[in-house]
Amino acid sequence: MTIRNLDDLLAEGVSGRRVLVRADLNVPLDKQTGKITDDGRIRAVLPTLTALTGAGAKVVVFSHLGRPKGAPDPQFSLRPVAARLGELLGAQVRFAEDTVGESARSTVDALADGEVALLENLRFNKGETSKDEAERGAFADQLATLGEAYVDDAFGAVHRKHASVFDVPARLPHVAGRLVLREVEVLAKLTGEPERPYVVVLGGSKVSDKLAVIEALLPKVDRLLIGGGMCFTFLKAQGHEVGTSLLEEEMVETCRNLLERAEGKILLPVDVVAADAFAPDAAHDTVRADAIPSHRLGLDIGPETVAGFAAALADAKTIFWNGPMGVFEMAAFANGTRGVAEAITKADAFSVVGGGDSAAAVRALGLDESSFGHISTGGGASLEYLEGKTLPGIAALED
Ligand code: 3PG
Ligand code: MG
Repeated sequence: MTIRNLDDLLAEGVSGRRVLVRADLNVPLDKQTGKITDDGRIRAVLPTLTALTGAGAKVVVFSHLGRPKGAPDPQFSLRPVAARLGELLGAQVRFAEDTVGESARSTVDALADGEVALLENLRFNKGETSKDEAERGAFADQLATLGEAYVDDAFGAVHRKHASVFDVPARLPHVAGRLVLREVEVLAKLTGEPERPYVVVLGGSKVSDKLAVIEALLPKVDRLLIGGGMCFTFLKAQGHEVGTSLLEEEMVETCRNLLERAEGKILLPVDVVAADAFAPDAAHDTVRADAIPSHRLGLDIGPETVAGFAAALADAKTIFWNGPMGVFEMAAFANGTRGVAEAITKADAFSVVGGGDSAAAVRALGLDESSFGHISTGGGASLEYLEGKTLPGIAALED
């Protein structure tokens, strides 16, 4: 199996050709203002776009944003993303108000060599996410008429069997873009023979979301550090009361079983920051992990835990981190995530940050992105890769 990449396409010559680029421009937007709060995913696709425009291609970019339900929904419009993309490229980006309709066709027709168009949200069309092959295929047929070649640079969406990810590449010459290539190279290092110690840090709210990756990683890693909302289900499994903290009661038994099988590899918090309410100004204290008051909920890991996790990371040679350690969006509960992120940057290790929230945390906390080995643009995608699953978007590129 081989996957051709952007250089192969460029070598064929793309001047004057319409090239479709599937990007993952699913960026977080401020609920009140609709402004882009983190443009990391837009910046991540620039190398592919500038390589194509520089070679004279007519570049047609398409993406999803959020989870609209198969019909136009203004709050999920990609229009603000087109504006930001234009600023970052330093060039006009033509915006089409639909995906495969009149606006898309005329926008693409108007492209001069080296110009970029962005189509409206793919998920405004039922066919994009349909489970019905024929419905997806019919939409993919329409999309495919807009270009002569297909580039997948939407790493964050490669785990989705969607028309733009899975069915369009079956209809056009297809290659992996620069971002997809880099992401896959990095993750392949982690699933191959990572340099040891290999330490994984997992956070986020739900054990059930992370169960498959924990199962897959346990035999591979030297240490697995668990924080974030999901640590409370593990603490409960250890026999501790967790007050009103996030808890997945039905996962307690599973966690108990994991802890038994982990033979000491799993490290849990020894102290937590417990608050009266889920609010930035809630009264809060640091308490022992086995003494969380019944009326309080844990919103961050405590300082002793940060120190312990930092010690467990200090001699690591390979690190993968997915999921914040606490509610980092609130200053009072950001210290755990900040402390662990700083410990990762201090280790003399190849470090990979996986996923939307942790990548956004790195930038929101003002940490230096370049002090990490790689910041992935895919949360679900990188986890599914590490689970060893077949990713539809990657499989579709293989010849
Ligand atoms: C993401 O943000 O995880 C990707 O853009 C995929 O989005 P989805 O989870 O809505 O498919
Ligand atoms: Mg997701």
